[in-house]
Amino acid sequence: MIVRKYHLKDRQRLKEIFFETSTRVNFSNECERESFFQIYLGHYLDNYFEYTFVLEGSERVLGYICACPNSYKDSYLYEELSHYGLFEDLYTLYPAHLHINLTQQAQGKGGGGKLIEALITELQKHQCQGIHLITAPTARNRSFYLKNYFQDEYERQKKLFMGRRL
Ligand SMILES: CC(C)(COP(=O)(O)OP(=O)(O)OC[C@H]1O[C@@H](n2cnc3c(N)ncnc32)[C@H](O)[C@@H]1OP(=O)(O)O)[C@@H](O)C(=O)NCCC(=O)NCCS
Repeated sequence: MIVRKYHLKDRQRLKEIFFETSTRVNFSNECERESFFQIYLGHYLDNYFEYTFVLEGSERVLGYICACPNSYKDSYLYEELSHYGLFEDLYTLYPAHLHINLTQQAQGKGGGGKLIEALITELQKHQCQGIHLITAPTARNRSFYLKNYFQDEYERQKKLFMGRRL
């Protein structure tokens, strides 16, 4: 599996992976489904494509990582996500945030770590000082992030902020 930059031609495949791996499966209509995609992936592909990387298998793309380099400046996410401001005081130390998803077939084989390192290299080129993600305190992926040096943890309202200084 190799990591490369995202191209526009990958958009449909990334959308498939997004819905394949999403824990949410029920939507009242197509508009609600599309808006869910837009908030958690489409927005990043449209606005921060240079911070998106894909994991390419022998036949097709098997995963992606996307990121916003400065969480504080993203007015769209403040509007769309009620919890977006919950950790706002930490955005100065950890300005970027990420989303990552691998198909079931690719999970547990180390591809996630390669995507994290590609993104971090890109953020460092732009002098970014830190990165975070938000998960649940009991989520299985917590050990993956700890192993990848997201070791500064803050828990609020049953959400877990995990940060890494760069
Ligand atoms: C989390 C994820 C990016 C890790 O990448 P990876 O290449 O599979 O990770 P590695 O092989 O380096 O490490 C394995 C660790 O990844 C995590 N992981 C693996 N499969 C997972 C899954 N289906 N769901 C959640 N975490 C998973 C676990 O922490 C696992 O450690 P464990 O086996 O001790 O529980 C990837 O498994 C994935 O996309 N999972 C599903 C979606 C997800 O949880 N995305 C993150 C949302 S915040």
